[in-house]
Amino acid sequence: MIIVGSGAVHLKDELLNFGAEVGEIEISRFPDGEKYVRVPLCGTEATVVQSTYKPQDENLIEALLIGDALRERGFEKLKLVVPYLAYSRQDRVTKEGEPISVRAVMRTLGLYYDELYVVDIHNPKTLDFFPGKAFNVSPARSIADYFGDKLGEGIVLSPDKGALSRARKVAEELGVEYSHFEKRRISPTQVEMRPVEIDVSGKNVLIVDDIISTGGTMIRAAEILRKLGARKIFVGVTHGVFAEGAVEKVSNAVDELAVTNTIPTPVSKISVVPEIIRVL
Ligand code: R5P
Repeated sequence: MIIVGSGAVHLKDELLNFGAEVGEIEISRFPDGEKYVRVPLCGTEATVVQSTYKPQDENLIEALLIGDALRERGFEKLKLVVPYLAYSRQDRVTKEGEPISVRAVMRTLGLYYDELYVVDIHNPKTLDFFPGKAFNVSPARSIADYFGDKLGEGIVLSPDKGALSRARKVAEELGVEYSHFEKRRISPTQVEMRPVEIDVSGKNVLIVDDIISTGGTMIRAAEILRKLGARKIFVGVTHGVFAEGAVEKVSNAVDELAVTNTIPTPVSKISVVPEIIRVL
């Protein structure tokens, strides 16, 4: 049985279309604004789907409340699927005194859930913070399916070396070349950013990454590719955490922008539901 939290309501119809049994729960608010959850269901195993985009803290708390309610009802095995995991970028201390926020989130979710499935987590190593079994769900196949025909014999690029495995997975699905951007210091005052060991001139390029926030990374990458003579530039990203105006800015800078539906946005054209169903 699948239970859908407020942050994943936009995925419910598609889950039903895949034949999933979706259990109905009550979610409302107390007069002071606190969340009220009621799970009038019986069973032993359940999978909760809850994405934790804005309001992040509220969606996280709701995942805990649903988990607590299910345990109270006697459910013995609980899985949690998190299409977008809030705080996943806060994975290290950069200034003394900071928390490792993703660790705090993982440990708390682990109080209720036995297994955790996160779609394209920023840093897969942070899954080790979850006390139970934790899995990264790659959207590479869905991104490849969406852009395959448009890209043709083009190239898949990641904006930095850290995201190269994302580019590799998409490229391998399509059987095309891949690489990443690299920053090279060309003088004491100048840093050049360009794709490593690959010629983009006259070729279509798909840039893939886990997150778009301000859009700065993608806009810069697109500008460089235009200068290097790339033909069409596509952007296929997992999580559209768009800051104000970022959808328009990135859309104007490239030939097409598409993100997945881990977060509902105007450009969430790629569904992760098939991947979620596959891993469950
Ligand atoms: C960084 O590590 C992430 O993978 C993204 O590249 C980054 O969050 C994108 O941010 P922005 O859209 O603000 O450039």
